[in-house]
Amino acid sequence: MSSMGWSFQAYLMNLILVSVFIIPHVLGCFNSVISFGDSLTDTGNLYNSSPNRSLHYFQPPYGETYFHHPTGRCSDGRLIIDFIAQFLGLPLVPPFLQSLNSTQPVQNFEAGVNFAVIGATGLDASFLATMEIHSPSTNNSLRIQLEWFKQMLPSLCNTSLDCKKFLSTSLILMGSIGCNDYNDGLLGGKSIELVRSYLPLVIEAIASTINELIELGAATILVPGNNPIGCLPSYLSKFESSDKSQYDASTGCLKWLNEFAQYHNEQLQIELSRIRRLHPQVTIVYADYYNALLQLYQSPRQFGFTGETSKACCGGGGPYNFNSSVQCGNAGATVCENPSQFINWDGMHCTEAAYRLMTKALLQGNYTFPRLASLCVSQM
Ligand SMILES: *[C@@H]1O[C@H](CO)[C@@H](O)[C@H](O)[C@H]1NC(C)=O
Ligand SMILES: *[C@@H]1O[C@H](CO)[C@@H](O)[C@H](O)[C@H]1NC(C)=O
Ligand SMILES: *[C@@H]1O[C@H](CO)[C@@H](O)[C@H](O)[C@H]1NC(C)=O
Ligand SMILES: *[C@@H]1O[C@H](CO)[C@@H](O)[C@H](O)[C@H]1NC(C)=O
Ligand SMILES: *[C@@H]1O[C@H](CO)[C@@H](O)[C@H](O)[C@H]1NC(C)=O
Ligand SMILES: *[C@@H]1O[C@H](CO)[C@@H](O)[C@H](O)[C@H]1NC(C)=O
Repeated sequence: MSSMGWSFQAYLMNLILVSVFIIPHVLGCFNSVISFGDSLTDTGNLYNSSPNRSLHYFQPPYGETYFHHPTGRCSDGRLIIDFIAQFLGLPLVPPFLQSLNSTQPVQNFEAGVNFAVIGATGLDASFLATMEIHSPSTNNSLRIQLEWFKQMLPSLCNTSLDCKKFLSTSLILMGSIGCNDYNDGLLGGKSIELVRSYLPLVIEAIASTINELIELGAATILVPGNNPIGCLPSYLSKFESSDKSQYDASTGCLKWLNEFAQYHNEQLQIELSRIRRLHPQVTIVYADYYNALLQLYQSPRQFGFTGETSKACCGGGGPYNFNSSVQCGNAGATVCENPSQFINWDGMHCTEAAYRLMTKALLQGNYTFPRLASLCVSQM
């Protein structure tokens, strides 16, 4: 592409981004968003299916910022998927399991459907259980989410051709997924060696799901990597160390955990390159959640995060405001006055303010590869 073409495109993108984050609903890039994943992406699946409505995620102050009540999202407000939907001019992506609640009207999934579930793993719960690793909140792994998708697809399209047509204008959000396979192991007391040993299987689970979706007609798939988990208050609290050399001096994050997340991301990208070579007609975009989030830890004040970056906004106290027995939403937890001054919401998940900035970084340019932004412009 000529440099002039590029800078015009960059100019267009800036125009679009400026307007998007002030006036949403301007860009008709995709007709729907179909997503899989975990608590970074769940917009209400666990909430609408859990027999236990007293889980801490479902209590105030969750949801206080945008929705003004808990919605089953693990944040004070919107998630990355919500900002992406708004950016694309689409409605917020409805949770699939809401349709199973017969007291509510049957959802229309033509503009999007979300299969992500809080706590979901890339590997099956039965497999993780052989290593005594258990998800505290769900057994609905990526494979089960894909089954749900295949079951509901006939409500959107009936012939293979129709389905390919429908999926070719859908943005598939493949994750984040896989993080809980590691969280459940590491936070559950398993060694990093054990967790590292099944990392290739996590990557394989993601890859095989992508391949199945491509068979069905998926044409654009956005695949996030893992976050810098060494920056999360839950991990900082669990693996607190008096050895200063374990911490990155500029961010306060635990280096060995961030290195592990980066290792996952490298392996994931190698696999994505392989899939791209096999399916050159499909656009597979890597979403660099790791660096999109890490940049906030590197220059917090520049982004308006005046609170302590190692502390959760909402939690049960202690040096990181995280206590696994007094979680955000539980009695005894406290919440900061202004969540937009904090990167982290509840020890594990980001605030809406951080998710908004991460989305901006992803859509604005160099935190997706290839750039999602240029893709949208070319489809206008
Ligand atoms: C179904 O939705 C209603 C209204 O939102 C809610 O009160 C009820 O608990 C839901 N049922 C289940 C099984 O989630
Ligand atoms: C529901 O969740 C709460 C909070 O995690 C827990 O204390 C309670 O035992 C759970 N109830 C059931 C029936 O699982
Ligand atoms: C997951 O499945 C196991 C085995 O069937 C069961 O004991 C456990 O309660 C399930 N966990 C959740 C969160 O549903
Ligand atoms: C596909 O066929 C089923 C059964 O005939 C019908 O219920 C459904 O509405 C159809 N879906 C579409 C998108 O036409
Ligand atoms: C976490 O909270 C419990 C219950 O209030 C308390 O007993 C415990 O000391 C706290 N743990 C830490 C590390 O602060
Ligand atoms: C991404 O953008 C940032 C800020 O605009 C810049 O500092 C950085 O060098 C860019 N990275 C790449 C790989 O282009």
